[in-house]
Amino acid sequence: MSRLDALPTSPFTRLNKLLEGVTPGQPPIHMHIGEPQHPVPPFVGEILAKHIADFGRYPPIIGPDHLRQAIASWLGRRYRLGAAVDPARHILPLVGTREGLFSAAFVAIPEQKNGKKPVGLIPNPFYQCYAAAALSAGAEPVYVNATRETGFLPDFASVPRETLARTAAVYMCSPSNPEGGAANAEFWKSLFALADEFDFTVLADECYSEIYATTPPAGALEVRGKTHADFTRVLAFHSLSKRSNLPGMRSGFIAGDAGLIARFREFRNVVGPQLPLPIAAVSTAAWSDETHVEANRELYAEKFEIARNKIGNRFGFQIPAGGFFLWLDVGDGEAAASKLWREGGVRVLPGLYLARDTVSGNPGKSFIRVALVNDSASTSEAFERLARIL
Ligand SMILES: Cc1ncc(COP(=O)(O)O)c(C=O)c1O
Repeated sequence: MSRLDALPTSPFTRLNKLLEGVTPGQPPIHMHIGEPQHPVPPFVGEILAKHIADFGRYPPIIGPDHLRQAIASWLGRRYRLGAAVDPARHILPLVGTREGLFSAAFVAIPEQKNGKKPVGLIPNPFYQCYAAAALSAGAEPVYVNATRETGFLPDFASVPRETLARTAAVYMCSPSNPEGGAANAEFWKSLFALADEFDFTVLADECYSEIYATTPPAGALEVRGKTHADFTRVLAFHSLSKRSNLPGMRSGFIAGDAGLIARFREFRNVVGPQLPLPIAAVSTAAWSDETHVEANRELYAEKFEIARNKIGNRFGFQIPAGGFFLWLDVGDGEAAASKLWREGGVRVLPGLYLARDTVSGNPGKSFIRVALVNDSASTSEAFERLARIL
C-alpha cells in the first residue's frame, strides 16, 4: 500500500457516510465537530484593520519578534517558567497547530531508529493528524490505548521495550481530544524518563490547555523546563483556535527543544506556511490577554453543568479535566450516533472513528464524542433530546 493510501480517512467523511440519506427527525444541532462558536475577541477587527497593509508583505517564517516575545511571556506566566523560554531559540509560529503537528514528524522521525523502521507512539483514541504524520514521515504508528482504567491517558510505560527502542516520536495530547484527560506532572516526568532512556521526541499537543474545569493542567514545557534549560526532547504545540475562539484565523505555535526548533525552522524555510503579519499582530494581542480566555472557560463550564443536569450520571458522565468534549459510553457509538440523528437531529461523532483496533479491542467503539461548542440554549435542547433518545 502506498503511504498516501495508508493514511486515515477523516472521521467526518466516515460520519457523512454513516448518516447519508438519513433525514434528521428534528431541527439539526451539530455537536460532531470541535469548532468553537463563542464570540471572536473584541480586539481582533481593530488590530487587523490597523495592520491591513502588511498583507502586502511576505512574512518571515520565524514571525515578527513581538509575536515570539508575547508567546514567551505567556509561557513564562502560564507555566511559571520565568524567562526560561528564549523567543529567539525556543519558539516558532504555526498556521494553526495541525500543520505543525504534521510537519514536525519530518524533523522528529529519522529514516531509521537503531537500524530499524522507526515507530511513532500514538494515544488511542486520538486526533487523526498524528497517524497521518507518522505514516507520511515513514514511521510505523503504534497505538497505545487510553481507557477509563488508565484515567483516559495512554500508558506508554506498558509498551514493549523492543518497540520503545524503535520509537522516534511520541504524540501526547493533554487535555486529550476526545476524552478530556489531563496529564499531571508525574505523567510528564515518566514520559520524559522514557524519552531520555530510549532517545525519542515528545510531541505534546496542548491546544486545549486553556479550556479546563478547575485546575490549569500541567504543561510539558513546565515540567521539562525544571530539569532541562533547553527543553531537550520536547516540542509543545499551542493554539489560539480553542483558547481565543479563533479556529478560522489559523494561529498557533510550537515551542521547545532548541536543536529541534533550529532544524524545524530550516525545514519550514523551504516547505512551511508563514503566518500573515496582520494575523501575527492579532495573535500577539490574544496571547497577551487573559480576560477573553476566562470568559470562554466560564461559558464551557456553564454548558458542562447543563449537560450534567440533563443526563446526570448516565453514560459514565464526568466533567472532563480539560477540553470541551464529552466522551459518553453509550454501548455502541455508531448505533447511538445514527439513532440520535434520525430521531433527534443531534449530530455527534462515533468514538470508533477516532480510534484504532488493537489486540485489546477498540477503545472508542462504545463511545460518542459530543462537542459543547454551541450556545447554552441549543446545548440544553440537545442534551434533552439525547437523554430521551438514548
Ligand atoms: C487534539 C487537537 N490537536 C490539534 C488540533 C488542531 O487545531 P488548530 O490547527 O486549529 O490549532 C485540533 C483541532 O480540532 C485538535 O482537536
